[in-house]
Amino acid sequence: MQIAIYGAGYVGLVSAVCLAKLGHHVICFDTNVAKINFLCAGQCPIYEAQLPEMLNEQMHNGQLKFTHIIEDITAADIHIIATGTPSLADGHADISQVLEVAKLIVHRAQDDVILVIKSTVPVGTADKLDDLLKQELITSQKGFCCHIVSNPEFLREGTAIKDFLFADRIIIGGAEYGLLQLKTMYQPLIKTGIPIISMSRNSAELSKYSANVLLANKISFINKISEIAEAYAANIDEVSQGIGLDRRIGSDFLQAGIGYGGSCFPKDVRALTQIAQVKNIDATLIQSIDNVNKVQQKWAVTQLSKHFANNNLSLKIGIWGLAFKPGTDDIREASSIEIIKSLLKCGARLNLFDPVALINTQELFAAETAITWSKSACEVLEDHLDALIIATEWPVFKNFCLHTLKEKLGYAPIFDGRNCFDLMKIKAAKLAYYYSVGRPAIKYSEE
Ligand code: UDX
Repeated sequence: MQIAIYGAGYVGLVSAVCLAKLGHHVICFDTNVAKINFLCAGQCPIYEAQLPEMLNEQMHNGQLKFTHIIEDITAADIHIIATGTPSLADGHADISQVLEVAKLIVHRAQDDVILVIKSTVPVGTADKLDDLLKQELITSQKGFCCHIVSNPEFLREGTAIKDFLFADRIIIGGAEYGLLQLKTMYQPLIKTGIPIISMSRNSAELSKYSANVLLANKISFINKISEIAEAYAANIDEVSQGIGLDRRIGSDFLQAGIGYGGSCFPKDVRALTQIAQVKNIDATLIQSIDNVNKVQQKWAVTQLSKHFANNNLSLKIGIWGLAFKPGTDDIREASSIEIIKSLLKCGARLNLFDPVALINTQELFAAETAITWSKSACEVLEDHLDALIIATEWPVFKNFCLHTLKEKLGYAPIFDGRNCFDLMKIKAAKLAYYYSVGRPAIKYSEE
């Protein structure tokens, strides 16, 4: 099939590459000229496993093209909208880019259009868009139809290609003709046994929010339990294992830590709260997921204040990890950013390192003179730190030699926001102070 994708962000880019891999002819449009030029030169604008190789492979064999010139899209069997839907100040998702692109597609069309919404949009958006476009088609006296299908995307950063090609399920929402076209497009995946579920557009849109919010809920739940575990000297790792083996609960997304970040969970929890509230539905349950997360992102700073007791945090603090999770250079809503901002406010001097997210963080704090940017995990420790915070569980930190850590840190405490280390190993290495989330603090004294 000929497929046009609008938006070369995470979802647009990964979908473009994977649909080309499935044998379709894909053209991906974005108004960001610099990004398109970068892609046309075979460069990948995001850090994502397998993406650069597949991008080049598909461009090289002629299946995939990029453009910032809308006229380059001459014909397409399916038009996929994958533009961003950022949070507005009140938590609502801003769907203006989706609407703009949809109008553009219909305006340029000469025949029936299959329009797919892949962006995460508030429930009811596709139906509203349908009414709007029908009206435009009548006004402009165009004698064709626009079939709108909702097709939410569930890929995770860091494993995006795998999540697309080996999805747990594909959800499509709409009327029969549009759904049929999407089933044809996804045929190579359906053939491998991936279930495709047809439903109404509203259900498809709500499924996307529900999946993300339920996962965010699991994280906030285990983080709240971790607070109780800390207060009662229980161990959250043991609790997670104990409840996760119940098949009704499942062990995924029960890793306690300093909260969730990224481009989806924070935004989608807020958007679903708004979606409920505009219909006068009590959204306390959903809202508290966000509230718990905000408190959890402060965990390291709270522990640090307790440890140093005097609330004077004008210390030299090292931070390992800046990305919102390992496997990505994305720092959107990352817990590390909240920690950095709080500590800078308290007058701390910081020494930061991340294996891939350093450049993005440098851009964000370009004018900040209290930050030193280290080139390795070890370099952070060379600076006679007063404390070390671990904000992302990159393997390079998890595998770091504990004896070196002890030697470099001396009596400086570690605040491990991602529970990277086994407590027995920490004890054996005789680290002076080790605090982790929802687990007993480990203290060692020479006497
Ligand atoms: C998420 C959804 O998983 C994906 O289906 C959707 O399409 C987009 O949003 P992503 O944001 O890439 O994907 O990352 P994910 O792996 O879900 O992690 C999100 C955040 O939760 C990270 O900050 C991670 O550190 C945190 N997390 C995850 C935990 O704190 N504990 C866990 O047990 C799991």
